[in-house]
Amino acid sequence: MPFATPAPAKTIALVTGASSGIGREFARQIDLLQQVDELWLVARGEEGLRQVAAGLTTAARVLAADLASEEGLDVVRAALAEEQPRVRYLVNAAGFGKFGDWRTISNADASAMVDLNCRAVVAVTRAALPRMERGSRIVQVASAAAFAPLPHLNVYAASKAFVLRYTRALRWELHGTGIVATALCPTWVDTGFEAVARQSGGGRDVNHLIGAQQARTVVSRALCASRAHLAVACASPQVALLRLVGKVVPSCVTMAGWELLRRV
Ligand SMILES: NC(=O)c1ccc[n+]([C@@H]2O[C@H](COP(=O)([O-])OP(=O)(O)OC[C@H]3O[C@@H](n4cnc5c(N)ncnc54)[C@H](OP(=O)(O)O)[C@@H]3O)[C@@H](O)[C@H]2O)c1
Repeated sequence: MPFATPAPAKTIALVTGASSGIGREFARQIDLLQQVDELWLVARGEEGLRQVAAGLTTAARVLAADLASEEGLDVVRAALAEEQPRVRYLVNAAGFGKFGDWRTISNADASAMVDLNCRAVVAVTRAALPRMERGSRIVQVASAAAFAPLPHLNVYAASKAFVLRYTRALRWELHGTGIVATALCPTWVDTGFEAVARQSGGGRDVNHLIGAQQARTVVSRALCASRAHLAVACASPQVALLRLVGKVVPSCVTMAGWELLRRV
């Protein structure tokens, strides 16, 4: 009897934070590219993910998981181990911030920001990397907050600096593999972020989110930057300017500027 030829591994896009905002927009725009067999959508809220999946033309798999916990990370690891897919796109968009200072942000929120914004990004990336190949793309959603220390957005900004540094060094480690890693660093984006950020004792410490962009614009520019093999996707000229400021202006000066800006 002839041996059956094993079915080729399916190609997937793995998008965390896919139920809302930037992650949901990545899922929608990757869907339009028609380059993968399945989109894997990860967030805590299963219903939100199902609604996103229903609007896609590509087949979607919903993975409801709290990525701030080891059990949630295990859900993603187990799905990858079971299906053994080829990961064409990895987008780490799950994340949140809280406005406030060290007194007004709870210990639980401060820890969860580090767990989700940093630990989960590393864990999901490390789980996906062995399943990536030449042409695979990683987009890590960092923030323009990564460019300078920001009082009253302190843990969040520091967590995004981590994502930016992690992504840049990983990119070097991936040299020659054909796998491209890009850090997306937008300023404010009109998503569910603001409502979550204001749910803290210091929720009004940042007054207005000046110049918020639409997720659609930010994501299409990020995908262009990834195609162009850029290390950092700025998504607007203003962010490019902030990036330059973060490189050349001393932190005490940028923090003083931020102190004024957050009160406007
Ligand atoms: N909006 C901005 O101004 C802005 C600017 C720069 C960078 N960013 C970054 O962009 C990324 C996406 O945020 P967004 O603006 O799109 O905000 P959003 O609309 O609030 O989306 C956040 C996403 O993350 C998921 N999520 C939250 N906690 C989670 C957890 N513990 N485990 C798994 N998934 C979780 C949420 O779904 P569930 O609640 O169902 O879990 C949701 O899908 C974040 O990393 C954020 O830091 C945002």
